[in-house]
Amino acid sequence: MIIDLRSDTVTKPTPAMRRAMAEAEVGDDVYGEDPTVNRLEQRAAEIAGKEAALFVPTGTMGNTIAVKLHTEHGQEVICEARGHVLNYELAMMAWFSGCVARPIFAQSGILRWEQIRPEIRPLGPHWAPTGLIEIENTHNMAGGTVYPLDVIREIADGAHELGLKVHMDGARVFNAAEALGRPVREIVAPVDTVMFCLSKALGAPVGSMLAGRAVQRHQCPRDAHCHALRRGSCRLPAGAGGDRAGGGRRYGTRARRLSYTYLPE
Ligand SMILES: Cc1ncc(COP(=O)(O)O)c(C=O)c1O
Repeated sequence: MIIDLRSDTVTKPTPAMRRAMAEAEVGDDVYGEDPTVNRLEQRAAEIAGKEAALFVPTGTMGNTIAVKLHTEHGQEVICEARGHVLNYELAMMAWFSGCVARPIFAQSGILRWEQIRPEIRPLGPHWAPTGLIEIENTHNMAGGTVYPLDVIREIADGAHELGLKVHMDGARVFNAAEALGRPVREIVAPVDTVMFCLSKALGAPVGSMLAGRAVQRHQCPRDAHCHALRRGSCRLPAGAGGDRAGGGRRYGTRARRLSYTYLPE
C-alpha cells in the first residue's frame, strides 16, 4: 500500500462515494431545487451552528466570497503573514474585492488581539481602512496549529466592538475540533463566517462550505455577486471539457454529489 503524504487533498473516491454520486437526487440549483445541495447546505449550517451555508467547489472560492461579503473596495484585510488567503489564492482579495492584505506575522500562526488591535485603521486621508479580520484555523503553513477558543473569542469580541467582522478560513477546522475535543460549532461560534473544506480532513475529492448569516440567500446586498460567482464556477468546467462528451452540464452536479457524500452525519 502506498501512503501519499504530499497533501491531505490527495484522496480518491471510494466505491461508496461513487455509488452515492451515481444515485444522488439532483435538480436545478439556480432555482434552489437541487435537493442534494439543499440538504448539504442545511447540514453544513447545522454543524457550523450558523444561519446558512453555501456549497462552493473550492476553499479559495469560499474565502473569496467571504471577503467580498464583508468588505468594500479599497479596504484592508488583516491576516497572518503566511495565511492561505494572502499567499495561495491568486490575489483574489484584490481581484474580486478590491482589497489589500495587512499581514501580521505570528510565529505560531496564531494571531492575538493585542497584535491585531494596533493594525486596525479607521477611515483617514492616507491609508486604507480595515474591512475584515481573517484567521486561519488550523494554520496550514505554521504546521497545523490550532486557535485556542479564548483567543478566537477575544479577537471576535474586539473586532465586533469596532464594527468589524471576522472570517475564519477553517479549511481544516475539523482537525481543530479533533485536537480540542470540542464541536466545530463551538469553535466557530464567535466568528461571522467560516469556510471549511470537504476535500481536506473530511476526505471528499472536491467541495467546500461557507457558513454564516451573511450567506443567507437574498439577505445580503451582495448576494447576487456571490451566488453568481459560485454558480458560474460550477458551470465553467462544463463549458471547458464536458461538451464533447455530452455530459458537461452534469459537472457541477457531480461535484456537489461528491461533497454531499462526505459531510459527516
Ligand atoms: C488553509 C487553506 N485554506 C484554503 C485552501 C483552499 O482550498 P482549495 O484548494 O479547495 O481552493 C487551502 C488549500 O490547501 C488551505 O490549506
